[in-house]
Order: sequence, then structure tokens, then C-alpha cells
Amino acid sequence: MISVQDMFVAGTDTTFITLEWGMTELLMNPEALKQAQKEVRGIVGMKQFVSESDLCNMPFLKAVIKEIFRLHPSAPLLIPRESMEQVTIDGYDIPTKTRIYINVWAIGRDPELWEHADEFKPERFLDSPIDYKGQHYELIPFGAGRRSCPGINFGTASLELVLAQLLHSFDWELPPGVLAKDLDLTEVFGVNLHRIQQLVVVAKPYIVD
Ligand code: HEM
Repeated sequence: MISVQDMFVAGTDTTFITLEWGMTELLMNPEALKQAQKEVRGIVGMKQFVSESDLCNMPFLKAVIKEIFRLHPSAPLLIPRESMEQVTIDGYDIPTKTRIYINVWAIGRDPELWEHADEFKPERFLDSPIDYKGQHYELIPFGAGRRSCPGINFGTASLELVLAQLLHSFDWELPPGVLAKDLDLTEVFGVNLHRIQQLVVVAKPYIVD
């Protein structure tokens, strides 16, 4: 049974982690940041707030979010599974009641699945049918099957809206003297995968009243 508390735990950290890694990647990849910002500002114009209806016209922003999910799945090992009966997979006998972890983090960086697997290249998704809804096993940040994330639509809508708003309202840069190559990208291992250092950035308002 899922409680209201479970919904808060599962729904807040995951979304926040994805956003923090996303801003980190964009600050480290200024061309992608520029392209995403150009797209968002082109659609939203001088309106102060991004609306949900604007989002369907932002293919690059959606590709950015897929790329963040690929490199930084917030729950890198999903939730453990248990086999219900004995099976043989690729010649390996898996006994009943074996605990199974799915390493989504490794799948997202597998060079046999992805070209330039360690690089942040949102454009790889622009002409690709690959989505994160659980049908393409190379990209499953929300898991797959009956126990996959029930908050997928809420989570992605929140991410799209917040990221678009942040890109629309502010110009972003690292603090003086801090270089992208010096950012500490160490991950804190746990159920969710935080950055060890919090991201510190300078935000300059785009629209000044
Ligand atoms: C970027 C946002 C999110 C990501 C990446 C994410 C990811 C995940 C993942 C990987 C799982 C485990 C799925 C599996 O093992 O197959 C999960 C489960 C779950 N998520 Fe999310 N989630 C997000 C947002 C949310 C939100 C917004 C809510 C609710 C408001 C939510 C509620 C849950 C719940 C209740 C479960 C447990 C489902 C079960 O055990 O049957 N998630 N999520």
C-alpha cells in the first residue's frame, strides 16, 4: 500500500535532484543552455510566466530533460524486484525469490547503447523515438512495468515547467572564478543520487519591471 508520506518522499527529492543535475549539465554545456533558452524565450516571449500550453512547442527542452534522465536517473537502481519462480536467462539459473537490482545508471551510460555515452548531447533525442515511459528499456528513469512510477506525468510536467521558467526568467552563470571543469560532480550514493556539492549559480533577471 502506498501512503501519502510515500508520495511526498517519492515525489519531491526525485524531481529536485533531476533539476539540480539538469542545471549543472546546462552550465557545463553552454551551447545547450543557449539553445534551450532561445527556444523557451522564442515561445514565451515577454510574458512573465511560462504556461503549460507553451511546453508542447519546446522539443529541445524535452530533449534536454531526456538527456538529464539518461545521465542522472534520480533512483539509479530502481526499487528491488524479487523473482517469483525459477528462470534461466542467458544461461544463468536464477532461483525463486532472488533479489534483483536494475542498474539504470549503467544502462544510461552503456557505450553499446549510446554514442558518446558520457557526453551531454540532448540533440540525440530530437529525431529519436526513444521515450522514458517504460517501453524503451535503454531509458527507464521511472522504471518499467506494473511497479513503475505512478508520478511520471506529474514529475515530468513539473520539471518541464520549472526548467522552462528558470531558463526564461534568468540568465545563468557560474560565480566569478568558478569554472565548469572544476565543478565537483561526485555523486552521493543512496536510494536517490544527489550531488555531493550543492550547485551555486548567479541568476540575472531577464525581464526587469
Ligand atoms: C523526476 C521525477 C521522478 C522520477 C525520476 C521518479 C522515479 C521513480 C522510480 C525510478 C521509481 C521506481 C520504479 C521501479 O522500480 O520500477 C518510482 C516509484 C514511485 N514514484 Fe516516482 N519519480 C518521480 C516523481 C514522482 C512523483 C512526482 C510522485 C508522486 C507525486 C512519485 C511517486 C512514486 C511512488 C508512489 C512510487 C512507488 C510505486 C510503487 O512502488 O508501486 N514519483 N519513481
